[in-house]
Amino acid sequence: MKRDEEKLGLYFVNPPEDVSLASIDLDRVPSHISLIMDGNGRWAKSRGLDRSQGHVAGVRSLREIITASVRLGVDCLSAYAFSTENWRRPQEEVDLLMALFANTLLRELPLFHRENVRLRFLGDLEGLPETTRDTFREGLDETASHTGMTLALAVNYGSRAEIARAARLVAQDVATGRLALEDVDEHAVASRLYTRDLPDPELLIRTSGELRLSNYLLWQLAYTEFYVSDKFWPDFDRWDLLRAVGSFQGRDRRFGGVTS
Ligand code: FPP
Repeated sequence: MKRDEEKLGLYFVNPPEDVSLASIDLDRVPSHISLIMDGNGRWAKSRGLDRSQGHVAGVRSLREIITASVRLGVDCLSAYAFSTENWRRPQEEVDLLMALFANTLLRELPLFHRENVRLRFLGDLEGLPETTRDTFREGLDETASHTGMTLALAVNYGSRAEIARAARLVAQDVATGRLALEDVDEHAVASRLYTRDLPDPELLIRTSGELRLSNYLLWQLAYTEFYVSDKFWPDFDRWDLLRAVGSFQGRDRRFGGVTS
């Protein structure tokens, strides 16, 4: 993705001691970065705040990471916002998150326009409250013509359900003769996932020190590099993103082969 060098320099000005833009190879920034934004609740608790305030602070972090990713020239940023398992949270928190998603999305539309960000969703939007779903559709329509970074938000998303859905679609196409049994291969499955036209993530970042995938992109993360930050998501900032990218660039990616 094309970068605006001047804006990039201005966004990463005054770095902390251990990291700087100069330490990053801008030609090797991951094209798809994915986020598991964990720790909003604990962040709030550690400050004597309500969990809801943790989610509000989490939106601020996401906004910063969206802008930082655009500046770095990332092609796709995806983020796990709400899992199919998150419906088990207290109703009050679920309602708050659904309202927060809708409000945030509308409020951030100017940012998406300014930064040329194209929005999409991963997950079953039919299962969302109507107002949230309508707002999401508006966001999709409003950003459909944008040609910059793709922001893929996983909402009401579960990876096993996604793979089961793809299997159902494959079976349906085989049953109706649209797909030959011999043609059921990795591509046939991948092209029926929510991520069908997105590249697999090159880098997955999870915050709050947890070492779990939590039913997130199980298929797509097959060869992804993981970076775990001990910070709670609301504390994760542009410098942490640079740290993650720096760590990624220090890895030797072999994709099951040998070092070249
Ligand atoms: C995990 O923290 C975070 C979430 C379940 C919500 C993340 C959502 C956002 C940051 C807002 C995204 C905005 C849009 C528009 C989609 P947690 O509650 O699991 O924290 P805990 O593990 O400390 O309890």
